[in-house]
Amino acid sequence: MHAPGNMTSVLCLEFLLFLLSRLAYSEEPEPLFRPQGGNIEMGYCFGADYIAVYRSAPGGDQLLGNSSELVTPPPDLQGRIQVTKQQHLLGLQIGNLTHVDSGIYKRECWENRTLASHVTQELFVCDEELESQEIIVNDLDTRTELLCSTSTGTKGTSVRWYREIYPTYKLTLFLDSNVSLDPLVEELQSVGIVEVKDEGAVLVLDNHLLKNNQHFYCLKIKGKKCLSFKNIYLPDRSENREIFASEGDRVVLSCPSDGFKQQWETPQGVINASMTKGSMHLSGDKGFSLVIPSVSDEHSGEFSCISSSLEIIYSLVLCPMKDPSLERRENFVEGGNILLECDFDQMANSVHWYRRQSLLEDELIHDSSDGGADIPEDLRDRLIVSEHGSSLNISNMRMEDEGVYYCVVIGDHEFLLDEDFYDDYNDTGDAESDYQENWTQPQRCMSKQETTLTWTNEDPPHDFSGFLYVIVGALVLMVVVVGVIVTVIAVRRKRRRKRPSHCELRATEKDDDHSRIKMLNDHQP
Ligand SMILES: *[C@@H]1O[C@H](CO)[C@@H](O)[C@H](O)[C@H]1NC(C)=O
Ligand SMILES: *[C@@H]1O[C@H](CO)[C@@H](O)[C@H](O)[C@H]1NC(C)=O
Ligand SMILES: *[C@@H]1O[C@H](CO)[C@@H](O)[C@H](O)[C@H]1NC(C)=O
Repeated sequence: MHAPGNMTSVLCLEFLLFLLSRLAYSEEPEPLFRPQGGNIEMGYCFGADYIAVYRSAPGGDQLLGNSSELVTPPPDLQGRIQVTKQQHLLGLQIGNLTHVDSGIYKRECWENRTLASHVTQELFVCDEELESQEIIVNDLDTRTELLCSTSTGTKGTSVRWYREIYPTYKLTLFLDSNVSLDPLVEELQSVGIVEVKDEGAVLVLDNHLLKNNQHFYCLKIKGKKCLSFKNIYLPDRSENREIFASEGDRVVLSCPSDGFKQQWETPQGVINASMTKGSMHLSGDKGFSLVIPSVSDEHSGEFSCISSSLEIIYSLVLCPMKDPSLERRENFVEGGNILLECDFDQMANSVHWYRRQSLLEDELIHDSSDGGADIPEDLRDRLIVSEHGSSLNISNMRMEDEGVYYCVVIGDHEFLLDEDFYDDYNDTGDAESDYQENWTQPQRCMSKQETTLTWTNEDPPHDFSGFLYVIVGALVLMVVVVGVIVTVIAVRRKRRRKRPSHCELRATEKDDDHSRIKMLNDHQP
């Protein structure tokens, strides 16, 4: 009786599983570029039971390798596949690549009979890899030119441009001259962000776009064949971000949730979904942010958010306890000006200014030791920084400017004053590494001073003396009005009695008014 129903649900489940597996595979493949004759590592599985790699072929997926059993690969790959195993890392390598190896590959990591992770990759094997090139950003320019190759105009060639998206480092195609000379991604289609020249061989990018894209790749394609690829990259702006926190501050270190085996490495040990350390915990929102409810001495040091697909490193630098006399609160009105000040003495090496707006990450506004540091775009023509960064003047304030603004005063590294250190350095051969260690020590924070700016839509209250003038003015005006009325009545009465000429009467009234108006003016602020 129940059999048909059970049958249906089993079929249903199978269908759902089938759909799920389709969905899992329908993700955009990650592009990979290799020169002919090179080799490729099809990613790694960390701590998995086994790795399996497939190649997408017209007749269906072909299994290329399974680290836990011997698989005979398709004839064209025989002798070129190697399973690699290093402690907990499992990989699969294909050597001696040729053009025909270009295509879609899938890698699966299996653990406890379940699919722990999988990645789809699109391999392009090109005739040659052009020398990679560092992007040189001229701070005076707002745009930067990226050159794919000089030999342009070859008949029948097209260019594809890829960029690495921060912070997952996934490469995505954003321009394909074979499809269009307009960017394929909507956010890049606004006028002036990307200018395409020379049939796609040259791009002129808004510098803003370079900020979070470390690597660009361009491919020259002829027909189905990849002629060359080139990596164009920004100098390493170091992913290491400094966080300056005073004792007792609540700090949130943000990190997107991405990849698998994600965890935080902290000065107090590993933190992940099932492990906390002290009061530190994951934020519980959709990302993988770490919350430190109250910073103390034991939190200073390096925090890394690590997963199979990203690594973000923060250095937490502890600042002395905040001095309440240096904490400020100010209101501002639309269109107004704000002056932010930072107190420091001669010992300071540099001053950094940051702002924190609602849920956004703290953002550097100014670094007195780095003239080229990026000013946030919305502040660019509204910010005036005094010499040495002791004050900031922001004009034309807007409601969005609300937030906490703070300066951080950076001092000399302590070890420079430490004589013992130099003694050690002179006697022991081992000291070289100590020296290195100290040299890369984070900056020393001498003070952190916060100003909270709040938007208000009311005019600032008049100060008391101004208010007094208004009252006095109003009183005077009343006196004048009453006076004029009394005078007019008196004059009228007089007129009735004495009947003077019209001209005389006018002159009297005017003179009176003049003297009273003058008196009013004297009292006005
Ligand atoms: C890989 O080999 C193991 C051990 O023989 C087997 O259990 C598993 O099903 C194989 N996986 C694939 C995807 O072929
Ligand atoms: C690659 O091919 C060359 C000759 O074509 C051969 O000598 C070499 O062993 C091959 N290497 C691998 C890893 O298959
Ligand atoms: C896999 O199975 C083993 C033993 O059956 C268990 O200890 C382990 O926690 C499992 N791992 C995962 C990721 O489920």
